[in-house]
Amino acid sequence: MPSTAAPSNGTRSAAAGSEPSAAAGAAQPWAESAMPRPGAPAPRHVAIIMDGNGRWAKQRGLSRKAGHDAGAENLRRVIRHMAEAGVECLTLYAFSTENWSRPKQEVGWLLRMPGRFIKRELRELHENGIRVRHLGRLDRLSRSLQKQVREAEALTAGNTRMTVCIAFNYGGRAEIVDAVRALVADGVPAETIDEAAIASRLYTAGLPDPDLIVRTAGEMRLSNFLMWQSAYSEYYVSDAYWPDFDEHEVERALAAFGGRERRFGRAPEQEAGERA
Ligand code: FPP
Repeated sequence: MPSTAAPSNGTRSAAAGSEPSAAAGAAQPWAESAMPRPGAPAPRHVAIIMDGNGRWAKQRGLSRKAGHDAGAENLRRVIRHMAEAGVECLTLYAFSTENWSRPKQEVGWLLRMPGRFIKRELRELHENGIRVRHLGRLDRLSRSLQKQVREAEALTAGNTRMTVCIAFNYGGRAEIVDAVRALVADGVPAETIDEAAIASRLYTAGLPDPDLIVRTAGEMRLSNFLMWQSAYSEYYVSDAYWPDFDEHEVERALAAFGGRERRFGRAPEQEAGERA
């Protein structure tokens, strides 16, 4: 967690204007909130398994690297649209602890992604009130990337509009292992360990559990993602490859969530009674 808090940089006013690149000129102000959507309010926390970069590239006769670049480009519009829709927290699964077993060249390319993302997007995110947080193990990443990540977290720590978590070198099982190690290191007696004690030692400490988990490219697997936190998440699978997952796809996912009945283990009659 960042140690330095930046001044709060919450919701900004909407303003029309040209579309300057994030790297140069003034950052683009985002709209206050999206059009009202029928059904339930927006999920507080959406988590996305971004899949299909490779297939997107193959379809176009491009390299897998080009697919990942297109995937990284797509982050901007999805983050912005989620913020405008009123989502409080967005988690993006960018590199799993299992992804190290991919070909060396591809791993090398993926390892460059967070640094490039920070360079390209951080200013616009910060100016639009977005807090950036890393989920996962930083230790296997280069010193310079660790520094970039910590600085991005510190710079945006006081922002309140939406939290964007980049899960990078993240594994759900590794996260639980790390939480157990932290419990032991903190000397917590076994009989006092409860769910709250574990949750407060996960990478996601302090964040709401994901209400909605989206996976792109048609796959129906959790792939070691937020295994503790997803106990009562709703799932949504899109056939779109991640680089094609645009604003309309975001709207479809949010609309599907709006139509779900969430019971958290209770009976339907109890739910109906509470809503009446
Ligand atoms: C899965 O698709 C995707 C990944 C392993 C990488 C996802 C990474 C990004 C979208 C960019 C990350 C950006 C930042 C800021 C870290 P795949 O390559 O397995 O696709 P395939 O199943 O079609 O081959």
